[in-house]
Amino acid sequence: MTEHGLLIGGEWEHAAETIPTIDPSDGTVIARLARGTAADVDRAVTAAEAALSGAWGALPAFERGRILTRIGALILEHQDALTRIEAADVGKPLRQARADVIACARYFEFYGGAADKVMGDTIPFLDGYTVLTLREPHGVTGHIIPWNYPLQILGRSVAAALAMGNACVLKPAEDASLSALMVARLAIEAGLPPGALNVVTGLGEEAGAALARHPGVNHLSFTGSVEVGRLIQAAAALNTIPVTLELGGKSPQLVFADADLDAALPFVVNAVIQNAGQTCSAGSRLLVEDAIYDTFLARVAERFRALRAGPASRDLDLGPVVNAGQRERVERFLALARKDGLPILAEGTIEADVPSEGHYVRPTLIGDVPPDHPLAQEEVFGPVLSAIRVRDEEHALEVANGTPYGLVAGIWTRDGGRQFRLARRLKAGQVFINNYGAAGGVELPFGGVKASGHGREKGFEALLGFSTTKTVALRHG
Ligand code: NAI
Ligand code: MG
Repeated sequence: MTEHGLLIGGEWEHAAETIPTIDPSDGTVIARLARGTAADVDRAVTAAEAALSGAWGALPAFERGRILTRIGALILEHQDALTRIEAADVGKPLRQARADVIACARYFEFYGGAADKVMGDTIPFLDGYTVLTLREPHGVTGHIIPWNYPLQILGRSVAAALAMGNACVLKPAEDASLSALMVARLAIEAGLPPGALNVVTGLGEEAGAALARHPGVNHLSFTGSVEVGRLIQAAAALNTIPVTLELGGKSPQLVFADADLDAALPFVVNAVIQNAGQTCSAGSRLLVEDAIYDTFLARVAERFRALRAGPASRDLDLGPVVNAGQRERVERFLALARKDGLPILAEGTIEADVPSEGHYVRPTLIGDVPPDHPLAQEEVFGPVLSAIRVRDEEHALEVANGTPYGLVAGIWTRDGGRQFRLARRLKAGQVFINNYGAAGGVELPFGGVKASGHGREKGFEALLGFSTTKTVALRHG
């Protein structure tokens, strides 16, 4: 069995201890990961600092861009292998895993092209002065990423940080680190100087916590649970450094009687079953206007009944969830729905012959869910859709905004005025009108408000977050 090492200063190192990583489709251990320690994190930060004052820090922006573009090309060249790795490690159906590989390559291409296009300003000021701003990297950036979209989240965060000239220490999730390790190997092959990207695998409370509190880190980027996000922000506060937090949501889709329901239907279903519902921006609440509630829900139910879950390699509608804990979490929510007598409108099926050690859950449509019930308030992170009947636009808005979260929202209506009224009043970082997710949208700034976090990744805006300005005022008389 492959035992993976740590990447520190361009060298792969053996760890004293390892941890297993499983394939959630059948529960088998597929590799062992280095269990990085606080001491390993410390050496990784030192290696990143050395890269900044060495070869990496000296590269002109366009050379950084070239290297990122080459990494993107290598990811595409190795897309079959990366697809297999991601499908086995996370349990993603093959088509979804491939889409993630391609998105990861797109981030490296996008930020490769952008690396030399972020500019400072010259500022009109007093006579006798010339004032300008320089765009500078933060320095060492820490990246703690989750297991649900390892490749995409690595791409959006590490590629943007590298484009701006930061040196990264990456802590992938213990449940799914294999694709990050492979991208790191490709980065070295592409000519990324030693120490520009360091990878310390291991446990969250160990390697992750050590990275979050390390005084040599100048910026932290975290995607994961609200609970851990708050710990990251607290750790960052003690070192007075900026953080970008992306903490998931309970994102609503608002469907009105005048909508193109044929167009809405596949988006409504896909938004909550993609990646078995383990998506930060999953459309997990379906708000439907009273006049069409029963007829539209009947159509959604029919789709849910046709959904099939099975091993990632069978490439069905959904694979397993990532681990036993995640399965228990989803089952807890489903048990609560039953206990409280919420109507189960439809369930999909788990293939009859799935391996007994796999972590499968049944896609489930529930409704009408009271807006204050945990099924309508809390992130399930599974293929569970909570439908809520709403009276009109105003009621829909109130329910949509009525959770602690604010990541994304979808609006389905043909009424142009309503489209923009709602887009402006919804509390969310992204609003989709007559679509959901904008096909991944590498170019589109992404992030939340309220408990969904703060700061923006993706798009050009991420480059501003991964850099800072220095104002230079020259008095020349
Ligand atoms: P988590 O927040 O514990 O894990 C995310 C990352 O944080 C992993 O790399 C983990 O190793 C690291 N981590 C964990 N504890 C840490 C600590 N004390 N200090 C520093 N790093 C730490 O999420 P988990 O437990 O895997 O999933 C629990 C729930 O969180 C999910 O059911 C879901 O609701 C939410 N979640 C949201 C995600 C999103 O995309 N926004 C992604 C993953 C989980
Ligand atoms: Mg795994």
